[in-house]
Amino acid sequence: MNTRIIVGAQWGDEGKGKVVDLLSEKADIVARYQGGANAGHTIVFQGKKFVLHLIPSGILHPHCQCIIGNGVVIDPVALMEEIQMLEQLGISIEGRLFISHKAHLIMPYHKILDTAREHQAAGNSIGTTGRGIGPSYIDKFSRVGIRIVDLLDRKTLEEKLRANLEEKNTVLRKIYGKEELNIEKIVQEYLAFDTQIDPYITDTTALLNQAIRDGKSVLMEGAQGALLDVDHGTYPYVTSSNPTSGGACTGLGVPPTSIGTIMGVVKAYSTRVGNGPFPTELINSDGEFLRKEGAEFGATTGRPRRCGWLDLVALRYSVMINGISEIALTKIDVLNNFEEIKVCTEYHLDGKVLKYFPADSSQLETLTPHYVTLKGWNTSLAGITNYDNLPEYTKKYIQFIEEFTETKVSIVSLSPSREDTIIR
Ligand code: IMP
Repeated sequence: MNTRIIVGAQWGDEGKGKVVDLLSEKADIVARYQGGANAGHTIVFQGKKFVLHLIPSGILHPHCQCIIGNGVVIDPVALMEEIQMLEQLGISIEGRLFISHKAHLIMPYHKILDTAREHQAAGNSIGTTGRGIGPSYIDKFSRVGIRIVDLLDRKTLEEKLRANLEEKNTVLRKIYGKEELNIEKIVQEYLAFDTQIDPYITDTTALLNQAIRDGKSVLMEGAQGALLDVDHGTYPYVTSSNPTSGGACTGLGVPPTSIGTIMGVVKAYSTRVGNGPFPTELINSDGEFLRKEGAEFGATTGRPRRCGWLDLVALRYSVMINGISEIALTKIDVLNNFEEIKVCTEYHLDGKVLKYFPADSSQLETLTPHYVTLKGWNTSLAGITNYDNLPEYTKKYIQFIEEFTETKVSIVSLSPSREDTIIR
C-alpha cells in the first residue's frame, strides 16, 4: 500500500509542515483530515518563510494534488487568504486543490462564541486559538452544522442559517452580551465565497479511494497532535477533533484497510501552547532557552509556547494509540548547546511509579516527572548530511528514544530548511 499517515505525536507544532513538504516530493496526493485554521504549518519556500493553515504543504510541489477532507472545518476567510497568498507566490492551485463537499464551515458566530466562551471561563479557559473550531465541531455533532454542499442552494443555506441564528443570536445577546448577527449579510458573504471556491469542490472521498486503488502515493496529514486529541489527549485541554491516526479514516472516508504506514513527527523536546497539563514543562532558564533557540512562538496566534524536556512516557503512549511505525525527529539542533539533556522515563505520583500516561488531567498536573540525564553533544550539527557523521551523543540520544519507544527514527531534521534533513 502506497499510503502513509503523518501525525503529530505530541501537543502539535512538531514540524509536520516540513516533513510533509519533504515527503511530498514523492507523493501524488496530500490530504488533510481534521482541524481547521487553528493549525499553522510554517514552511520555508525559496528562502522565504510563510504559514499555511488549511491547505496541505504539498501544494508547493507542482506535481502534487492536495485535498481538504470532510473532517476539516473550513473558515472561508482563512481559505481565501491562503489561496491568494499562494497565487501571489506564483503557485498554481487550479486543478490541484480539491475540497470535500462534506466539510463543515466555520461561521462568523463560531468565532465569536469561541472567544466569548474562553473569556467567560477566565481561569479555567482552554487557551483555544479563537478560530471557532470547538463551536463548529459542536454544531457538526449536534447535526445543525452548515456544510460546503449547503452553499449550492441558496434556499437551503438560508433555512439552515435562519434556524441556527435564532439560537445563536439569543445566546450571543443574552449570555455574552454581544450584538446579534444579520442573516442576509452572512448569506451574501457565504454565497460570494461559494463562487470563489466552486472550482475546487468535489467528492474527495471518491477521488482518494480511486487514487489508492490506482496505487498512487498518498500522504494523509493530521493537524495539531495526538495529545490534543479530543478522545485520547489531555481532556478537556484538547482540540475538538481527532488528530490521531484513526481520524484519517473518518476525516477522509478511507477504510482502515487502505492504510500503509504511520509516521509520527516528534520534536526532540516538548512544547505546548494553550492551557492544560504538561508534566515536563520547564519554568526556568532552560525552558526560556528552548523557546528562544527553537523560536517557539505559535504560528497561528504568535503566543509563546511552553517548553520542556522530551516526555518519553507520553511519546510511548502516542506511539501506541497512533500505531506509529517510524519517527521523524525534528529540531534536534535546538539541543546543541546543552551539557546535559534530560528525558522523562516515568512519572511519580503519591509514592507510586506510573509507567503509563494517565487519563486524568488532574493527575497529570500533580505528578512528578522522573528523568534520565543524557550527555549533550554540545556542538553544532550544521552541514551534516549523513547519519553516521552525527556526534556520538546525538546518536545516543536518538538511540535512547528508539529503544524506549521501540520505534525507528527514520528522519532527523536539523533545521527548518529542506536541505538540512537526514533520511536513514
Ligand atoms: P482550538 O483547537 O483552537 O479549539 O484550541 C484547543 C487547544 O489546542 C488549545 O490549547 C490550542 O492552543 C491547541 N491548538 C490548536 N491548534 C494547535 C496547533 O496547530 N498547534 C498547537 N496547539 C494547537
